[in-house]
Amino acid sequence: MSSLLVDDIGELVTNVPTPGGGPLGLRRDVALLVEAGRVVWIGPARYAPAADRRIDAGGGAVLPGFVDSHAHLVFAGDRAAEFAARMAGEPYTGGGIRTTVGATRAASDDDLRDTVRRLRDEAMRQGTTTMEIKSGYGLTVADEARSLRIAAEVTAETTFLGAHVVPAEYAGRPDDYVGLVCGPMLTAATPYARWVDVFCERGAFDADHARAILTVGQAAGLGLRLHANQLGPGPGVRLGVELGAASVDHCTHLSDADVDALAGSAGADEPTVATLLPGAEFSTRSPYPDARRLLDAGVTVALATDCNPGSSYTSSMPFCVALAVREMRMTPAEAVWAATAGGARALRRTDVGVLRPGARADLMILDAPSHLHLAYRPGVPLIRQVLHNGVPQCR
Ligand code: NIG
Ligand code: FE
Repeated sequence: MSSLLVDDIGELVTNVPTPGGGPLGLRRDVALLVEAGRVVWIGPARYAPAADRRIDAGGGAVLPGFVDSHAHLVFAGDRAAEFAARMAGEPYTGGGIRTTVGATRAASDDDLRDTVRRLRDEAMRQGTTTMEIKSGYGLTVADEARSLRIAAEVTAETTFLGAHVVPAEYAGRPDDYVGLVCGPMLTAATPYARWVDVFCERGAFDADHARAILTVGQAAGLGLRLHANQLGPGPGVRLGVELGAASVDHCTHLSDADVDALAGSAGADEPTVATLLPGAEFSTRSPYPDARRLLDAGVTVALATDCNPGSSYTSSMPFCVALAVREMRMTPAEAVWAATAGGARALRRTDVGVLRPGARADLMILDAPSHLHLAYRPGVPLIRQVLHNGVPQCR
């Protein structure tokens, strides 16, 4: 069995809390051994075992790969003109989703596949080694199923988002569309999906619709997630906690009761994570969610890109980390944790987002001595190398 030693590490972020290393479990003067795609040993560099191959980290920081737990990569076309209009003062309403639905339905499988792979590769070059991918721009039985089939070619973290908006052909008949989502669409999607999601927001789906869809999705064996409280206050976050969702995403407009509900779930075996998506606030010029309020209440916070052609066309987790630190009152350590271990919690994964023996050898090596530089040097390509399942990725 071939082994790979990573040494000359400036700082290792393990996310295994230690007395001296804080929540990031920082370690120095250590080396890390990989075999068969897993971390098998971490210990003092001077005791590093012999290995078949070696990567010299050159004194750079080594971190778990980013876990991007919220992305919409299966789409065609872009909406650059909509972005420009927003920057000139137009509000974001989510109405542009239907533009992308039209383009996606008209695209070939290969066109969609190329976009998914291009964005996945782009994310990987920026340190992302686990990526959730949603459907939601097909909104017919066949187009949702093919979106998920294509997503499943590159990730195990696939999410059925047939309830993204009510498509034009169902205008004025939301109950009929929810019936389709809960029936034939769910049946066609389930073989390719791990999760089910609903955009629970004024103008999309209300709490009754969301509850109906999530309940049948759960009965079909899917885990639950929600788009909630993005554009205004609403019932989504509390519904997600009540139903035991793995994550409620956006969380931009929260009442005290929403924060209390999330904090109340924090002690549970499987808490509901609050996943914050600062790329969406950046690209819609909206107020950022208050991460500090959530963290101070004891809520588990994740950061993700929300990569999509409308509200957040970025695949960059380092960008989200920098935004979270600068705009959302997170410390660099909290933001790095949220983008790695937090994302893993949001996907209920224990094998990623950490570096310890037995974990997946998914990691990044920085051209910088510490994790602090991810926020301290915004916009700079600091990711020197990425290992995915122990395999160095082409640069
Ligand atoms: O998470 N909010 C709903 N869905 C996406 C936006 C999709 C779009 O605008 O195309 C989001 O921001
Ligand atoms: Fe989203």
